[in-house]
Amino acid sequence: MRIPVIIDCDPGHDDAIALLLAFASEKLDVKAVTIVAGNQTQEKTLNNALKVLSFAGVNVPVAKGDDKPLMRDLIIAPEVHGDSGLDGPELPESNLKACDMLAIELIAKVVRESDKKITLIPTGALTNIAKFLLCYPELKEKIERISLMGGACFGGNWSPAAEFNILVDPEAADIVFKSGIPITMSGLDVTHKALIYDEDVERIRNVGGKVAVMVAELLDFFAKFHMDMGFKGSPLHDPCAVAWVIDPSILTTKKLHVDIETKGEHTLGATVVDYYDVLKKEKNVDVAFDIDRERFVDMLVEAVKYYN
Ligand code: RIB
Ligand code: CA
Repeated sequence: MRIPVIIDCDPGHDDAIALLLAFASEKLDVKAVTIVAGNQTQEKTLNNALKVLSFAGVNVPVAKGDDKPLMRDLIIAPEVHGDSGLDGPELPESNLKACDMLAIELIAKVVRESDKKITLIPTGALTNIAKFLLCYPELKEKIERISLMGGACFGGNWSPAAEFNILVDPEAADIVFKSGIPITMSGLDVTHKALIYDEDVERIRNVGGKVAVMVAELLDFFAKFHMDMGFKGSPLHDPCAVAWVIDPSILTTKKLHVDIETKGEHTLGATVVDYYDVLKKEKNVDVAFDIDRERFVDMLVEAVKYYN
């Protein structure tokens, strides 16, 4: 029986690959795609999602979220994803259109109409997820789990203490992490091990077909920023959150208590992971620390074959 999921994303190179991985999986039933601002503005992340889905021949309800986080100005990441938010491949205009409801309204509609609990897979800031929980508290019990890409037990990538998705909207993350919904957190601890090397990119390119070539071109561009940062491969963040739902054995997790820093001068947006259980508080999050990288790459190669 397929797992019903909703993907909330900010394409973004790794978000785009996460979408393609999800739609290629026989384990998942992607009911909707909702869009959040982050890697680029809401307009650009929406446009990118529609173009990728259309290019891959996927038809799914897509809804846009707000233009900014709950309480802060938007920060974006053109240095990573380019001015379009999806620099690299030349993609034709989409023949998909966003539906005329807001992201949280589409999430609520899918959850309300589903006879099974829904798994949410956010791969951007948690603005839409937090707003959904605030506006539709009665639907929280129909959320099976949240498998998110964000945070880190150790370190940050947009400040020394914070990972980008959480830092974009710390207040939203705080609401989500306090929601009581089971969370699997694919943070930098694991995504910095989900490295895609040149030989992996060539394996994908050599599958052939327009989607495989497009994914290789996305990875070619995505590598530029990360090689300049000294990585030997590109950390493929967002597909980790999808891969765990497809096959939880691909990640190694530890159940820990996690709080979100919403005030710190130097630590704003940090996921404060109680790694040594000092606080003896409820362990609300399954935090991922390791990945079967070989199987992860095989999963991606199989996914691009699906579109041929
Ligand atoms: O820190 C990495 C995360 O920020 C990824 O989700 C990437 O797409 C950006 O949203
Ligand atoms: Ca993302």
